[in-house]
Amino acid sequence: MTIQPAIDFSSPTRSTPLPPRSNQRFARSEALPSTGEPVATRDGRLLQVRPIEPGDVAALRRCFTRLPAEDIRRRFLHSLTELPEPMAQRLCLIDPETEAAFVLVDDGVSPAELRGVGRVFIDVAADTAEFSVLVEREWTRLGLGAELMRRLVATCRERGLTEIWGYVLVENRPMLRLCSELGFTSRMVPDEPGVAQITLRL
Ligand SMILES: CC(C)(COP(=O)(O)OP(=O)(O)OC[C@H]1O[C@@H](n2cnc3c(N)ncnc32)[C@H](O)[C@@H]1OP(=O)(O)O)[C@@H](O)C(=O)NCCC(=O)NCCS
Repeated sequence: MTIQPAIDFSSPTRSTPLPPRSNQRFARSEALPSTGEPVATRDGRLLQVRPIEPGDVAALRRCFTRLPAEDIRRRFLHSLTELPEPMAQRLCLIDPETEAAFVLVDDGVSPAELRGVGRVFIDVAADTAEFSVLVEREWTRLGLGAELMRRLVATCRERGLTEIWGYVLVENRPMLRLCSELGFTSRMVPDEPGVAQITLRL
């Protein structure tokens, strides 16, 4: 089995950007609406959590530029130096049938910035979903990764899925620990040294 690391914020298995849909080619990318549900960090800062929107493209690309190489590799399972605009557009215009994505919006700065993204890709035939999650380094250890994961799990349960799973590098102790605390189990991926598949039965 060959793992095809992701080129987006969400799926470690998608290695090729999908072509933008016709309506997303012209998606507006300047605005970052801050309406969402408030989420307090452990140190008392406030963010908004809401579904990703087409207007998040510019902020998503800015967020990517703030990521350390290590976090990009942990998230995508390979190195990636930039998030091209068509890819960002694709990521911000989700197909509600097969995707769900939440962003953590920091509107305490101008322009507002994204501090985290969590996403699932749903396999409708299998009734399962593959997740990915990312929190900007300076905002980690504040409960945000767990918050995003809980939302993804809840979304999958609401949709009646049987399983949520993801690939994680075995060196990625923070993610493995986070998932273990949420009840995920882990197994090594055959023929892919250094990669674990973590799964939660729903
Ligand atoms: C992994 C990641 C999402 C964790 O986000 P986070 O916001 O720091 O997570 P939380 O603050 O909710 O932490 C939840 C638990 O995870 C574990 N954890 C998180 N960061 C950790 C670290 N650096 N070392 C050890 N455990 C850690 C802890 O058990 C923590 O609970 P605690 O703080 O009460 O001890 C974040 O570090 C990240 O985005 N990493 C890069 C991308 C990535 O690895 N994505 C996963 C693959 S899809």
